[in-house]
Amino acid sequence: MARSDEEQASSLASRLASTRALTLDLAAPLSDADATIQPHPDASPAKWHLAHTTWFFETFILRDHVPGYRLHDERWPFLFNSYYEGEGDRHARPRRGMLSRPSLDEIRDWRLAIDDALQRALPELRAQALQLVELGIHHEQQHQELFLTDILATFAESPLEPAYGELGPAPAGELEPLGWLEGQDGPAEIGAGDGFTFDCERPRHRALLHPHRIASRCVTNGEWQEFIADGGYRAPTLWLSDGWDWVQREAVERPLYWHEDGTSFTLAGRRAIDPAAPVAHVSHYEADAFARWCGARLPTEAEWESAFAAIDPRQGHQLDRAGAVIPKAGGGPFGDVWQWTGSAYLAYPGYQPDAGTVGEYNGKFMSGQMVLKGASCATPRGHSRASYRNFFPPPSRWQFTGVRLARDA
Ligand SMILES: [Fe+2]
Repeated sequence: MARSDEEQASSLASRLASTRALTLDLAAPLSDADATIQPHPDASPAKWHLAHTTWFFETFILRDHVPGYRLHDERWPFLFNSYYEGEGDRHARPRRGMLSRPSLDEIRDWRLAIDDALQRALPELRAQALQLVELGIHHEQQHQELFLTDILATFAESPLEPAYGELGPAPAGELEPLGWLEGQDGPAEIGAGDGFTFDCERPRHRALLHPHRIASRCVTNGEWQEFIADGGYRAPTLWLSDGWDWVQREAVERPLYWHEDGTSFTLAGRRAIDPAAPVAHVSHYEADAFARWCGARLPTEAEWESAFAAIDPRQGHQLDRAGAVIPKAGGGPFGDVWQWTGSAYLAYPGYQPDAGTVGEYNGKFMSGQMVLKGASCATPRGHSRASYRNFFPPPSRWQFTGVRLARDA
């Protein structure tokens, strides 16, 4: 092995080990019962996240690239395949909370066995398999964020309002004045740059931008309280038709986890809402209605990306270690909350899904979803970048989703 190959392999091995360890650390405060609950069909039990990320490595690397490898348990792929048709039938997603077996301890043991097998296999793996290890690391990081948002949804179901972790006292967040950054006008290059990217970020290509401005910070809780007080949730003219149907059908009156008394449920239990912190847990419909209420609009994904491509995506309030997280005032574009854009999640010109079954990772979801940019307080630091395209359907709001405004200039 040439020296740079060796360095690359040891960096991959250590990133793999630290990523796998963080997932176990995230699960440390949970009982088997905590880790088994599925709070709603879009969210998964904590135990399932631990197992599914392990299934990903066992299937796409050990089974497919290590001669003679035998599965830890031949019945488990049916339980822990998420959505890969190429891997055959699977347990129904809305019924993941019915799996009391295997136990949390059995899944922890499985994780350690797979970690051990992966570390032993790494020196022999060829380039194609090493790329899948890289994909598996980024996949696991995505599930670390989902782990936190799903455990928040789980604990929010309990009238006992358990805290997943602790957060210090809310800082007296100082409200940052809202500025408007002048956007680029004309053709802009967007999409994947150097380093790892998901297939949906490729290829890099030109987008045409029109004169616009983009907000220097996200919309705050205090501003959202003004929207509520002004009857924002009761004014049909502010809402997209689908959004207005949703508000009425679901009787939505405030962001998810907010209570009428000025508190919200967080990973550290019930807390007073900090008016200076970015608003979180709002749907695309709410983001769009809020923007209309202020005479603004949501940025397009190209506007967002061209505005912040020069900012270091590792800067900001992101996940550094296991524990409770919450959006805070004073962060940059990467961190605190993912920001809804007005762009539908569609293929870029010339898009090609990755080869093989992992080609199902992104491309098949390009229908009925909107792009979010940035990162959140639950995103592992180093996971996101300017070209990153997070995506969720418009009514989703159990993620740390917030709003950055834009306007035509
Ligand atoms: Fe997954």
